[in-house]
Amino acid sequence: MAKNLVIVGAQWGDEGKGKIVDILTDSADVVVRFQGGNNAGHTVIVGEEKFIFHLLPSGILHPGKTCVIGDGVVVDPEVLLGEIEVLKKRGIFRPQDLLISKNAHLIMPYHKRLDVARERLRGANKIGTTGRGIGPAYEDKAARCGIRCGDLLNEADFRAKLKQNLLEKNHYIKTVFHEAGFEIHEIYHDYMRFAAIMEPFIENTSKFLDTAMRSGKNILFEGAQGTLLDVDHGTYPYVTSSNTMAGAASTGSGIGPSRIDAVIGVTKAYSTRVGEGPFPTELKGDEADRLREQGCEYGATTGRPRRCGWFDAVAAGYAARVNGMDGLVITKLDVLDNLDKLQICTAYRLDGKLIDDFPTDSNILSRCEPVYEEFDGWRRSSKGAKSFDDLPKGARAYIKRLAELTGVEPYIISVGANRKEAIILKDPFK
Ligand code: GDP
Ligand code: IMO
Ligand code: MG
Repeated sequence: MAKNLVIVGAQWGDEGKGKIVDILTDSADVVVRFQGGNNAGHTVIVGEEKFIFHLLPSGILHPGKTCVIGDGVVVDPEVLLGEIEVLKKRGIFRPQDLLISKNAHLIMPYHKRLDVARERLRGANKIGTTGRGIGPAYEDKAARCGIRCGDLLNEADFRAKLKQNLLEKNHYIKTVFHEAGFEIHEIYHDYMRFAAIMEPFIENTSKFLDTAMRSGKNILFEGAQGTLLDVDHGTYPYVTSSNTMAGAASTGSGIGPSRIDAVIGVTKAYSTRVGEGPFPTELKGDEADRLREQGCEYGATTGRPRRCGWFDAVAAGYAARVNGMDGLVITKLDVLDNLDKLQICTAYRLDGKLIDDFPTDSNILSRCEPVYEEFDGWRRSSKGAKSFDDLPKGARAYIKRLAELTGVEPYIISVGANRKEAIILKDPFK
């Protein structure tokens, strides 16, 4: 039986989605990115080789599997073509394996400028965005003045839309930020150059996916960012500008929600966050530094050090609920191998009362104090474990408790960055 699976981040992003999508692509025929843009950085490590994907789906290393950039993605063509170029040089890219939705919105140079300038203006209240123009591109989509990949195929249309946009954007940039505006010719020529290369990939991908489903193909939907960065259900306003949760797989790729068979959430065995915003289990000082160094917790997109903390079962339970999670993937268990003691947050204390429902109001969340359950460390390597029983006893107990608190069955446990370092407890395609 063919299956359509959605993979989403259960935390604040960087859970290891890229690695998991790469593994599951073995059993898939099509891999679809459905939201976000090149704010994402998805790492796949194969042998000695490391790949970081920002826009290309993480299934792209598997020849013959179709990779789709869906309707809900915002595409910076320069970044996309750069990624394709790198893969070409490494002898990997096959043009017939890539499709881009006509409906996917383009990130324009003014989006990037506005993203950075707005953050500067916010000062201490900044969001800590990746500066890639994601927010402003989604704003234009909602304001109905965005320019889409399909527009690249019609020069006159593209030029007219660009002209209309610059009228407003240049005025805004000059008066609010006191910076020089953009010249239409430069952008126009650059984007027409991109258009010539992108044209063969641009398609009606919703129709393609429907045909693939009807012919019994397995489809993997690859989420970017994480549930707690969802624009509606995350820690607003410290979120990204798209819906990152499983429901977006449907709207972001043009398939009905009834076509999705299962939702898998990916979580680290601890927590990280990049950028600003509340983070109840955040650690400071030596404990944070140790997790950061052990887990190489530096942003795959911006290189920023990631904030690190203990596993938060309140947040994970919330992510399980809003995504309708069927299975859980727990990554980076090996990072905890050498600790004497570990903590899992099982509830928050708010104004003297215990709560176990995740508050999405950032002001309230920032006042929540974690209530911890302590675990003894296992102080043995979990790397190389091929089955659950191979894991150190303490690690098994930790995983069991984490799954119990989250209320979701563990499907995969990842014990190293390499493609091979994973224990499959339940194959979601079977
Ligand atoms: P994504 O954005 O969710 O795809 O995650 P990132 O690629 O941004 O960050 C995850 C990081 O952890 C990458 O550097 C991965 O290579 C690495 N990684 C993934 N799984 C594991 C694991 O089980 N153990 C270790 N040590 N590293 C892992
Ligand atoms: P992947 O797919 C972690 C964060 C930024 C910032 C906030 C808004 O690799 O998990 P944006 O540029 O989207 O407007 O920034 O969201 N952020 C991520 N954090 N992983 C990501 O993607 C992220 N994409 C955005 O750091 O706090
Ligand atoms: Mg990442």
